[in-house]
Amino acid sequence: MHDHEEESRGPGFNRRDFLRGSGAAVAATALVNGAHEGLAAQDVKKGVVAAGKAQDIKLKVNGKEVTAKVENRVTLLDVLRDDLQLTGCKEVCDTTNCGACTVMIDGKAVYACSRLAIECEGKDIKTVESLRNGDTVDPVITGFCKHDAMQCGFCTPGFVVATRAFLNQKPNASLEEIRKGLGGNICRCGTYAGITACAMEIAQKGGA
Ligand code: FES
Ligand code: FES
Repeated sequence: MHDHEEESRGPGFNRRDFLRGSGAAVAATALVNGAHEGLAAQDVKKGVVAAGKAQDIKLKVNGKEVTAKVENRVTLLDVLRDDLQLTGCKEVCDTTNCGACTVMIDGKAVYACSRLAIECEGKDIKTVESLRNGDTVDPVITGFCKHDAMQCGFCTPGFVVATRAFLNQKPNASLEEIRKGLGGNICRCGTYAGITACAMEIAQKGGA
């Protein structure tokens, strides 16, 4: 999965490199999913994990403590979108492959479709909505506009969050590091050049 978390997908892992090298998309999907620690949500969807009674859980989202009543099978993505109306994170593949649902958990980019909401109690969750404060927006958002890094926009919020999380961890990243670091997100419209240019410009200014 493009779990952007280094420990879950392995340092230096790059989906596009793998696909280019093997040409085996099915095998790649199995490998990526297998490397991801957030498989519980997918197991639930497959019926491996039984649903339970709805219970109140407390989450910290974008700096605020919120309560949601959820069954143990509900993903973080569904709680964010359906219960908290934070619809920036998108449900596209819902199978940990595209990155459209990317959020930050404790500072790391994570596929929200791969995490059960109950797993996220006590963690610091940030969505793309956290990157705007009134008229002030994160430089990543400004940079996406400047470098024309979006077309249909479906991948864009996830890519913005992944870029911010990556630059927080590697503020002076090189071009190659940026390409690898953002390798867990997919853009069907092919806006990679603009996204990379945006990230590179910010990295050259120290990541902020
Ligand atoms: S990776 Fe979560 S919707 Fe695609
Ligand atoms: S802008 Fe359309 S999928 Fe990325």
